Amino acid sequence: MCVTTLARMTAFARNQWYVAAYGREIGRELLGRTILDEPIAFYRAESDDTVIALADRCVHRRYPLTAGRLDGDTVVCGYHGFTYDTGGACVFVPGQKRVPRTARVRSYPVVEQDSLVWVWIGDPALADPGAVPRAPWLADPGWTTVGGMEPIDSDYGLLVDNLLDLSHETYLHSGYIGTPEVAETPITTEVDEGAGVVRVSRHMDDAECPPFYARSTGIEGRITRWQDIEYHAPCLYLLHSRIAPVGVLPEPDGSDPDAFHVEITYAITPSTDRHVYDFWAVSRDFAQDDEEVSTFLHDLNRTVVLQDVGALNLLQQALDTEREGYQELSINIDTGGLAARRILARLAAEGERAAAVAASP
Ligand code: FES
Ligand SMILES: [Fe+2]
Repeated sequence: MCVTTLARMTAFARNQWYVAAYGREIGRELLGRTILDEPIAFYRAESDDTVIALADRCVHRRYPLTAGRLDGDTVVCGYHGFTYDTGGACVFVPGQKRVPRTARVRSYPVVEQDSLVWVWIGDPALADPGAVPRAPWLADPGWTTVGGMEPIDSDYGLLVDNLLDLSHETYLHSGYIGTPEVAETPITTEVDEGAGVVRVSRHMDDAECPPFYARSTGIEGRITRWQDIEYHAPCLYLLHSRIAPVGVLPEPDGSDPDAFHVEITYAITPSTDRHVYDFWAVSRDFAQDDEEVSTFLHDLNRTVVLQDVGALNLLQQALDTEREGYQELSINIDTGGLAARRILARLAAEGERAAAVAASP
């Protein structure tokens, strides 16, 4: 049991990859998202289909570029026509031939992988595309995926906390994904501080089957239900979920033909200190062509996500009325969440130190 005194906001870790959008959201219309307080305009280049990310503020009078239009690979500001190429350099200004040398907007490194578009907010020199964490089932034909994104008006740290402690399923999501066994079953937690990964597991050997799995798998009766969380701080959260009739376990060689597998992916992308993008996806390795199952899982998971949205909006409103330095009490179920907070604080501090070094003469 431990008592913690809290600051009002979880610090941003800048030198990290964040999910900005699903690939399908970005096309030949400008899409605006604010990530770590930075307004960014996204679009696909006409010439090679790559995703471009530019600061969403025109260098002239700071008009949002997302209120302008695309012209081939370039963006034309909707106010006075300053025109930017894919690297953010201004290539046209109205009324004069010479384009000022400083006329450019920031461009951000982007990686499109596993159907997600990742953006790097910090020092571009440190952006390593090989460091983007993977969620391969999202774009694997062996899996069927449904998903979406819901914004939440809260500190992103509240969403990290929420996802790392699934005991809340029993109370907040009862009748959807929660059953008594989730809150009753102890967890095991492993922390890889260096890699910034937190693993929280809860294996239920004999549990009620919640509607989410009963209707999608067709299992009648009780189940073994395994929840293995893998949180890659700061953004990617994976919940490996295994469901099988009671007594059915994986083979000694690790194969698991009689179980149903669901990969639940979340991307937690801080927008501002009181706003977070909650990307969610549910991938399954069964009933793959069954549209009814897809619709059911989509609608039910969205309902569950909206229950979290409602709870976190309410929690944030409550916390905003607390005095600076308020306290909270943590118990065993919070082990993963506390480890995640530690890692986020370290990543944020490292980012600040790197920025200070870069800024020093
Ligand atoms: S504000 Fe963009 S061209 Fe003037
Ligand atoms: Fe939840």
